[in-house]
Amino acid sequence: MKMTRSWWLLVIVSLGVMIPFAAPYLTFDAANSRVNIAPGSVQYPLLVTHILLAAAALLTGFTQFIPRIRTERPQLHRLLGRIYVGSVLISALLALPLVGYMDDFAKATGFAALALIWLFTTYKGYRAAVRRDFGAHRRWMIRSFGITLVAVSGRLLVPILLLTYALLHGFSLPEGREGMVEDVLNVNIWAGLIANLMIVEWAVLKPKEQKA
Ligand code: HEM
Repeated sequence: MKMTRSWWLLVIVSLGVMIPFAAPYLTFDAANSRVNIAPGSVQYPLLVTHILLAAAALLTGFTQFIPRIRTERPQLHRLLGRIYVGSVLISALLALPLVGYMDDFAKATGFAALALIWLFTTYKGYRAAVRRDFGAHRRWMIRSFGITLVAVSGRLLVPILLLTYALLHGFSLPEGREGMVEDVLNVNIWAGLIANLMIVEWAVLKPKEQKA
């Protein structure tokens, strides 16, 4: 089976969104962080490690859906799969203490839910592979990678959320532009999570004959 054009579009859009976001953290200089860093804390090293491993999960995740690798190079598929699972495990566990540095409750719960669902779906996918239940392995790994892609969709949804905010406030922006951006960035992870869960369950995993 050939990879579809929409799959390659997803790869390009995801890298196009995530490379500029991750680049400042590759300088390993906390002064370049977009996230406010608590002075004298472990927040910055945790954040950078999270980002490096999340990027590894994103890259290895994409390769796992290339049919030729799965069918013709099963050992490579297994190796990349182990890197994916290990990267998700550590990156998600590091995300949990990072949640503790957040002031906003909606933002903190959004990231915490994302990290826990990331761990859960990846664990289920890994266990299914160990049991050699490859149908369940495929479904849970698609769910897991859908969660990985919340990092992308959460950011892509920002313009739509900004428009929604402006519409709901009759374009009056009671807290100014900065307040609007802050409010949107506190909920965009929840929006990305809901969107990706729906896309995976209804558009990707639902049997064709059931698709409305
Ligand atoms: C899907 C599960 C993920 C969880 C639970 C998660 C969690 C987090 C958390 C808690 C932060 C700190 C945010 C803050 O303090 O404002 C963060 C930041 C960040 N994460 Fe993730 N992340 C995930 C996936 C990814 C992926 C796949 C990438 C891809 C490279 C990534 C790249 C980043 C980047 C670049 C930042 C810094 C954001 C900024 O500068 O605004 N994350 N993440």
